[in-house]
Amino acid sequence: MKIKSLKVNTKQKRYSIYFNNNLINEINEILNKENLKFEKFLIVYDSKIKKNTVEKIFKKIKAPKKFKLKFFSSETNKNFKNVNVVIKYLLKEKFSRNDCVISLGGGIVGDLCSFAASIFKRGTKFINIPTTLLAQVDASIGGKTGINDKKHGKNLIGTFYQPDLVLIDINFLKTLNSRELICGYAEIFKHSLISSKQNFYYLDKYIKEILLLRRSYLIKAVIDSCKIKKEVVEKDEKEKNLRQILNLGHTFGHAFEAACNYKKILNHGEAVILGVKTAVKFSLNKKYLSKTTYNKIMMHIEKIDFKLSVNKIFKKKDINKILNFMLNDKKNVSNKINLVLLKDIGLPIINKPFHQSEIKKFFLKELINL
Ligand SMILES: NC(=O)c1ccc[n+]([C@@H]2O[C@H](COP(=O)([O-])OP(=O)(O)OC[C@H]3O[C@@H](n4cnc5c(N)ncnc54)[C@H](O)[C@@H]3O)[C@@H](O)[C@H]2O)c1
Repeated sequence: MKIKSLKVNTKQKRYSIYFNNNLINEINEILNKENLKFEKFLIVYDSKIKKNTVEKIFKKIKAPKKFKLKFFSSETNKNFKNVNVVIKYLLKEKFSRNDCVISLGGGIVGDLCSFAASIFKRGTKFINIPTTLLAQVDASIGGKTGINDKKHGKNLIGTFYQPDLVLIDINFLKTLNSRELICGYAEIFKHSLISSKQNFYYLDKYIKEILLLRRSYLIKAVIDSCKIKKEVVEKDEKEKNLRQILNLGHTFGHAFEAACNYKKILNHGEAVILGVKTAVKFSLNKKYLSKTTYNKIMMHIEKIDFKLSVNKIFKKKDINKILNFMLNDKKNVSNKINLVLLKDIGLPIINKPFHQSEIKKFFLKELINL
């Protein structure tokens, strides 16, 4: 089976994303092909990755000196303290800028390691091996790095730092639980909404096969999703304008996550589904979106086996807390809340600031239906 790949061309770096199953067997050939060489590497791996898989990758990658570090993934662990653990390790082992940090895990390990790699000696080599669907179709692409602040919110500290290589092996997804699979699917779904009807209808037709991890459907959905994100990032690496479309549902979603104190009751991808649902409802409310398209999107969400709803998690008394987190969103440039909305499938609208009173009114009216 021929390995598929995409090239990402940004101002900062030009790098490849490889896709396949059993990709990790070919890791050395890929490193040689990409001319990626280093004296030392540190692989930071998620504690849920099978020990023999970590060992296999560790052995396969050739380098005179190799190190590994286990990481327990959680939003609360995506913090400065753990960045410091990685940085101190690199300093102790005398890593240079030409050495490499490798992340093996979901979006949390990836965000933390890429941030550490970006600030270590002003930037060392970085390879991302994402192991969750969410990280494969979203977090590993585009060069956003970041950590959280417990008091002020998610991803408020970070850099833009492109990786040197991304290896997407769909075999990792076999051990993911269905909740995590759906979280990744949320981003695939969001990418379809901002890109084209064609992408949306493909998902609508094959959602079952994709979530059952049928190889050909899954790999097409993953590659299409990465392609959408890559094209947006190439045009607007630093989120000056167009890249904001990737935040469809995220201003609401991040606020929902923060209002739950990043507890397991609502993880990132689930917050994104609820955020997209809310943004789509808001778009209908503001008459940007037709009722027919709104219904089509809602029918698709029904096909995702997803039982959570905003009104089950939050009560009226939580609305102010949610609005405060929305106001604190780093994408706001004034005291208004900047939302990404939808005019049609494939037609997102950006730079739509709303006063918090308008959003509050919407929540008071719609909370029961969200
Ligand atoms: N940088 C970006 O552009 C970007 C984009 C989207 C999301 N993110 C960030 O990504 C994070 C969410 O990523 P995530 O959903 O991958 O979370 P995660 O890294 O916490 O992984 C989810 C869960 O799956 C486990 N896991 C990882 N790989 C596994 C595997 N192969 N088998 C079984 N279990 C496995 C983890 O231990 C964790 O419990 C958030 O912090 C979010 O802010 C970043």
